[in-house]
This record gives sequence, structure tokens and C-alpha cells, in this order.
Amino acid sequence: MGKINTIGILTSGGDAPGMNAAIRAVTRSAIANGMRVMAIYRGYEGLITGEVREFHTEDVSGIIGRGGTILKTARSQEFMTPEGRKKAFKVMKKNGIDALVVIGGNGSLTGARLFAQEYDVPCIGLPGTIDNDLSGTDLTIGYDTTLNTIMECVDKIRDTANSHERIFFVEVMGRDAGFLAQNSAIAAGAEAAIIPEDSTGADQLEQFIGRGIRKSKSSSIVIVSESPKCGAMYYADRVKKEYPEYDVRVSILGHLQRGGSPSAGDRILASRMGLGAIQALLDGQRNVMIGIRNDEIVYVPFSNAVKSDKPLKKDLIDVMNTLSI
Ligand code: F6P
Repeated sequence: MGKINTIGILTSGGDAPGMNAAIRAVTRSAIANGMRVMAIYRGYEGLITGEVREFHTEDVSGIIGRGGTILKTARSQEFMTPEGRKKAFKVMKKNGIDALVVIGGNGSLTGARLFAQEYDVPCIGLPGTIDNDLSGTDLTIGYDTTLNTIMECVDKIRDTANSHERIFFVEVMGRDAGFLAQNSAIAAGAEAAIIPEDSTGADQLEQFIGRGIRKSKSSSIVIVSESPKCGAMYYADRVKKEYPEYDVRVSILGHLQRGGSPSAGDRILASRMGLGAIQALLDGQRNVMIGIRNDEIVYVPFSNAVKSDKPLKKDLIDVMNTLSI
């Protein structure tokens, strides 16, 4: 592989707190290793339309604590087509970009994988998603901050739930993964979590009601993983019909979960992974995502990272069930 003189960097997909810290780390680490950095705006959209400009070390000053992404982000449909990727490759060549660092989630790294296969371009991914659903890394950038945000919201909901002796169904993000729901339920002392990973086939609402929690507590909070059909509204409607004696409310936390200043954990994770991305290129790695496992940086082939089967430790379910009696 030829020497890498210039890297391109972009953020793609849903924004996540800590993406800016990652942009800063990649930029500064690249410059420290004698590389030029081209910032690409609006994810793959900007790579197709040529929204590119050089970044110097001062372009990333003062951003480590800022939520969102200074590069903007998008979910590019065009990049998912061969024609879109062809345009993107031309823009790369025109700007002298030898390698790409992509910060994003499942869809974004799937795009990077296709691009790398078609055009033989070294691509390095950083796991930037609140969902924590990328395999091969213990944590993704943004997950810890979002978990804390949800916990703070649920603490507040608990005050009003207690006062009115209500059951609250609180819907959280996570796409198809229950990491946010399960762990926020533990952190906030919720009575139940309804998650997609529950493989028992049992009715999760019946299980919750069956535990008889309402008898001993003045409120109940059930964290529900978002789902097109079986979200918080679905369960609340069922309780209203099947258990009309209970006073039920719903709170859908929505996009506030993606905002805010990143936690110390996410800033450190993003900083380490950003350095990891440049080290990977120097090591001759390509088409891998930077992960952290057991506190060590690891290189995860894209094909493994984007598998949608990251296991959720089942003992987390026991922890919540046991402690919520
Ligand atoms: O992948 C991050 C995420 O926030 C998911 O948790 C959620 O399902 C989705 O993005 C929401 O996407 P959008 O911002 O397009 O509504």
C-alpha cells in the first residue's frame, strides 16, 4: 500500500455525543504524524458533492465538549448506489485524499465497507452511535452520554410518578438493540425493561405485571425499547384496556437523547479511538473499525462490526429483575 499523505474525515448517520471529540482526535493525530486532513461535510453527501476543506489543528479547538458534529451529518441514499460511490471516488481523487476515516453507526460502516471493496480505498471506521449496537467493541462513542441523559430524565419522571402513584412507560432509542433500555433501567432503578433481545417469547408486559410490583411501590417505571409496533404507546394502551385500575402515562424521550455535552467516558473513548484510527493506517490496516475490548484497542473487520447480533449480557436482566422487587 502506498504512503498515506492525506486523509478525509466525515461523520455519517445519526449524530452521537463524542463525535466532535473523535474529529479532534483524528485530526490532531493525523497532523502529528505528518498527514494532511480534509474535512468532508454532511457525511457521504459531501463526499459526493465535493463539500471538502482542509482542517488544521485550530479548526478542532474547543470542540471536545460540544455535542453533535461540527462536520454535520446525513444518511445518504445516493452513496448506497454504485453511481453515488463513483462520484464520491472522483471527489476523493480530485482532493488528493488517500484514505477515509468514517465516524458513524451500522449503516455508515456498511457504506464504507462497500466503498472500500469497490475502489480499493483504505477506510477506517470509528463506532459513533448512541445505540451501542456495533459488534467487536465493548462501547460505542455516544452510548455512555445517552445512558446518563436517559437516567437523568427517568429520575425526574420518578418524582411525578411517585406523587401520582402512576405507571410510566418511558420509550428510549436504540433502534433494534436494547442496550440503552436495559442499562438505563438498571441505572434509574426502573421496575422493568422491555427489550428486543428477550428471546423467551414470553409476554414482557405480563411478566412485569405478574411480578406484582405495584402492590409494594407507589410508582412503576417501565423502560421500553423503541419499536415501530410495540413501543411505549402499545404497552400503555394494553394496560389501560387490560388493567383499568392502573393510572398510566407515556413519555417518549425522543431526540433529546442524542444531544448534550459528551460524558468524560465518551470523550476519552473518542480520543483513544481517534488515535487508534491513525495508528491503524500507519500499521497498514484497512477496512477495519476501531474498537475497544477489555480496555485495549482492537481492529475489527467491517464485516464483523456491522453484524446485527451484538449480544446483550443476560445477567443484566437478572440484575434489574432482582433489584426491582
Ligand atoms: O441510530 C441512532 C438513532 O438515534 C436510533 O436510536 C434511532 O432509531 C434513530 O437514530 C433515529 O433516527 P432519526 O434521527 O433519523 O430520526
